[in-house]
Amino acid sequence: MVVIAHVSDIHVDAGERSAERVGRVFRYLAGLHTSPDAVIVTGDIADHGAEAEYERVRGLVRLSAPVLWCPGNHDDRGPYRKALLDEEPTARPVNRAYEIAGVLILMCDSSIPGRNDGLLADETLAWLEARLSARAELPALICFHHPPVTLGMPFVDGIRQFGAERLAAVVQRHPQVVALLCGHAHTAAASTFAGRPLLVAPGVVSTAMLPFETDALVDLHQPPMIAFHVLADDRRLTTHYRVIV
Ligand SMILES: [Fe+2]
Ligand SMILES: [Fe+2]
Repeated sequence: MVVIAHVSDIHVDAGERSAERVGRVFRYLAGLHTSPDAVIVTGDIADHGAEAEYERVRGLVRLSAPVLWCPGNHDDRGPYRKALLDEEPTARPVNRAYEIAGVLILMCDSSIPGRNDGLLADETLAWLEARLSARAELPALICFHHPPVTLGMPFVDGIRQFGAERLAAVVQRHPQVVALLCGHAHTAAASTFAGRPLLVAPGVVSTAMLPFETDALVDLHQPPMIAFHVLADDRRLTTHYRVIV
């Protein structure tokens, strides 16, 4: 059994509110009886994509488990590479592949610099295809920020990941893809994409409201939530959602 903790949309800025929430979530993860095999953070890490915000994130996130990141629309590839990953700042998509406990975890960059909607660049799709082909024997999780489908949330649906039929074609060539994991919608949700589960992590910083709940787009008072993805030995995935009080 492999356990992946899934955190998203931490939106760290210079204020205390986001830092308190992120601190609460990572203290909870650090205090678990058994450490998860990995923690993934699916984007919107720094609220303004500023170097100082990424440096603050590093101070808040101290875990023994590996923490795997991908950028969101609030992130900025240059400062993200420099201040979060200790790499040379470039504007190319930030894609990373990991093998953890026998699972291939592909952290893909669905951001488009300067825009709120998302797209997997041709370069990213080619990288994804190559990594899946190279390790076809491993169960794989494809992770990115923007959901590639509508979720019944007009605001989020308008800034979803577009061009998703290209991703669907990649997924259909690789039956070992167990699920797709994303954020951006600030709501705990489950859907499907290309015949596989699509699991949306809730937001740490806020909860987006559904159009039939209220006129408000966002509720800042609901507590942060996270997901745990549990992959059984038979490659069946179960997702649990947790409120962090
Ligand atoms: Fe967000
Ligand atoms: Fe986002």
